[in-house]
Amino acid sequence: MKTKLTIAMIGCGRFADFFVPLFKAHPEVAKVYVCDIRGERAEDYSKRHNVEIIESFETALASPEVNAVAIFTERQKHGPMVIEALKAGKHVYSAVPCSISIDEIREIERLVRETRLTYSMGETGYYRAATLFCREKFAKGEFGNFVYAEAQYNHDIRNMEESFKSSGGDRWREYAGIPPMYYPTHSTSMILSSMPGVYATSVRALGYVSTERTDIYGTDGQNLYGNPFGNTAMLLTLSNGGIARVSENRNVGWKAPETYISQFYGTNAGYEFSVAKHYFAHWDSERPGKVKMNDVTERLTPPEVNKLVNTDFARAIQEIADGAGFFDFSPIQDGKRLPESFRGLHNGHNGTHHYIIDDFCKAAATGKLSPTNIWEVARYNIPGLIAHQSALQGGIVMDIPDLGVKPADWDVIDPYDFEYNQK
Ligand SMILES: NC(=O)c1ccc[n+]([C@@H]2O[C@H](COP(=O)([O-])OP(=O)(O)OC[C@H]3O[C@@H](n4cnc5c(N)ncnc54)[C@H](O)[C@@H]3O)[C@@H](O)[C@H]2O)c1
Repeated sequence: MKTKLTIAMIGCGRFADFFVPLFKAHPEVAKVYVCDIRGERAEDYSKRHNVEIIESFETALASPEVNAVAIFTERQKHGPMVIEALKAGKHVYSAVPCSISIDEIREIERLVRETRLTYSMGETGYYRAATLFCREKFAKGEFGNFVYAEAQYNHDIRNMEESFKSSGGDRWREYAGIPPMYYPTHSTSMILSSMPGVYATSVRALGYVSTERTDIYGTDGQNLYGNPFGNTAMLLTLSNGGIARVSENRNVGWKAPETYISQFYGTNAGYEFSVAKHYFAHWDSERPGKVKMNDVTERLTPPEVNKLVNTDFARAIQEIADGAGFFDFSPIQDGKRLPESFRGLHNGHNGTHHYIIDDFCKAAATGKLSPTNIWEVARYNIPGLIAHQSALQGGIVMDIPDLGVKPADWDVIDPYDFEYNQK
């Protein structure tokens, strides 16, 4: 039995703006409300997107008309708001991260298991072209046994200051200094979701004590977390015996694409990426001892950007660093499964926005699980929370708690179900 969704979007800041038109256009959505504690932001959204305002988060939770909320508030607020919304009986879409507290993630898992409400975290990393490519090759067995991967999310604080200031006011530094590893899901999701069922079992992390931005990172009260680190790198042991290195860098001289897998190796094949070029290599069956190199850039890059890569490489890498391709699909993200009504609508984060909104709406409407359900995203999020503890203790090895897998009788919607639109 399908239920049409009436969604209250909570938080009308910079990011949610991308998503109002997508929620509005989704065939499973009956109505969209917007809401912000800063009334002028909700007013602005209401005018530009032609949607009604709902007075407050609490009003939305109390409303029998609203059956879903989409949380787009600041990162440290998600956990408690998601818990409240599930307790109020609402389906929940949440921007990343899931939560900055393991106890809250456990509580979200408990509530979802008990209530069977939809929880979906909008993880852009799940649908990035490199992730889709590694997932496909892994599923086909082309990598062989997984050996080692590297992923990172480079987002220098210089590019986030304005955002933190706009909602944090005079106290913005308190929030801007959040430990980098409290926001690990873009990077971890790219590696882990390439190998369904695989999770991290232990971690060792090292932090870079930022000497450049002591106004934000430090232990003497600038940030609420007593966090000294501008960057943190973690080494994970995975449940399949492989190793992953994940770095979360907020004080770094690098830009775009922000999140990427730089290496993903198996015993039989490997994938590598840097700035503009994607390569897939495998042992060459016709030339013993040699490796066959394949340039797979065309499939993993928006066509306009790829054209530039092939004609003017120097200009291409500059334009990619400046954001070229950010709004576009790559050929591997063929969009076939997406609702017709999404066609031509604004996309973002390298062609991923349409997919993450479609996942939530389909899951909530059908009662199935989203691919980025709580069991999956707990495995993306918790390793970072433990990693920060490891880094604070000089890199001790720590076990990572695992919340296990989804209930056996609860199916996940098929991300490749091209027939959905015809049903
Ligand atoms: N690639 C990605 O997945 C990605 C990219 C950007 C941002 N994000 C996430 O999206 C979230 C929002 O980011 P942003 O840049 O828009 O932040 P923002 O600070 O611009 O917006 C947050 C908004 O929430 C509002 N708000 C806070 N508490 C509220 C409450 N109780 N009720 C109603 N409104 C409330 C604030 O007033 C503000 O307008 C963050 O958690 C961020 O981590 C994810």
